[in-house]
Amino acid sequence: MKTNLIGMFTLCVATMMFAAIGCDKSSSTSTTATPTTGPTASEGGGGSASAGDVTIGFLVKQPEEPWFQLEWKFAAQAAKEDGFKLITIGATDGEKVLSAIDNLSASGAQGFVICTPDVKLGPAIVAKAKSRGLKVLAVDDQFIGNDGKPMTDVPYLGISARKIGYSVGEALIAEMKKRNWPQEETGVCVVTFDELDTARDRTEGAIEAITAAGFPKEKIFKAPEKTSDVQGSFDATNILLTQQPNVKRWLICSMNDTGALGAVRASEGRGFNADNVLAIGINGTDCLDEFAKPNKTGFFASSLLQAKEHGYKTAHMMYEWIKDGKEPPKDTRTIGVLINRDNYQQVLKEQGIR
Ligand code: GLA
Repeated sequence: MKTNLIGMFTLCVATMMFAAIGCDKSSSTSTTATPTTGPTASEGGGGSASAGDVTIGFLVKQPEEPWFQLEWKFAAQAAKEDGFKLITIGATDGEKVLSAIDNLSASGAQGFVICTPDVKLGPAIVAKAKSRGLKVLAVDDQFIGNDGKPMTDVPYLGISARKIGYSVGEALIAEMKKRNWPQEETGVCVVTFDELDTARDRTEGAIEAITAAGFPKEKIFKAPEKTSDVQGSFDATNILLTQQPNVKRWLICSMNDTGALGAVRASEGRGFNADNVLAIGINGTDCLDEFAKPNKTGFFASSLLQAKEHGYKTAHMMYEWIKDGKEPPKDTRTIGVLINRDNYQQVLKEQGIR
């Protein structure tokens, strides 16, 4: 029952995506929703001869997160332009990843792009893909090998995590100064998820910038989230707020928008608001609803990442690898640009997101 529900949920999320990205079922390329638990990966949409040649999977760890929906949207754009078939799969744990690879193989796929639910699955994913003759490209979260080190032999596209985190820290301090917040009343809440390298690099980068600006180390507090979602951040931040009742104003950062959002919601539960909370996320996704609200919330800004590079480019690189034998570079890093209420509409338009 549970398995079915999860499968249905995945199908539902992917189907919503299908509708949201406006794929035409009758076109020669299509994005297909595939339950991760089914015996085979079903293929929807009418594939044509050109689309039938190349089939690529795009697996993500958190299909409900706006970031991954955006990656899928751009991957679908690549599928349409290049003429390959794309199968999107929400693979939320190791078992689902491995069965999804089997399903992809049964569907005739030659390769897949993946943001794995657990980076330590790297060796198992590579072994499974190899046994099925599928090519693998890691996106967002780099595989970790049995030796505990990043698997640099697997092509990877991710963000310049420390640099982006550093710019978030700098922006927090700049805005704090602009608002003339007294430093002695202010604390920093860093929602951390240290088991993931790209997450740790981001929050460490932010802490580095904040301390480099002279902010006292003892006023920088880590709130370790158990799960990297809104609830995980909400719970972690609540604990911190209970422990630090004397902090009157909070600067907040995290590995992504989801983490920043959970922290903002927790602070609101304690009576904080946009006048005394200043949060900056990363992704440029979950922040958009906050910016669109008529009344300001504590979610002040976000570092907008290049979802098109992560979705379109990775899928396109996989396509070229399969079709022409052109192997993707082993390590590609993307940058971020700060968006807030004032500029987000303009920047999103420029980047083809809205
Ligand atoms: C991780 C995070 C996502 C997003 C990507 C960007 O996977 O979980 O929210 O920030 O990195 O690469």
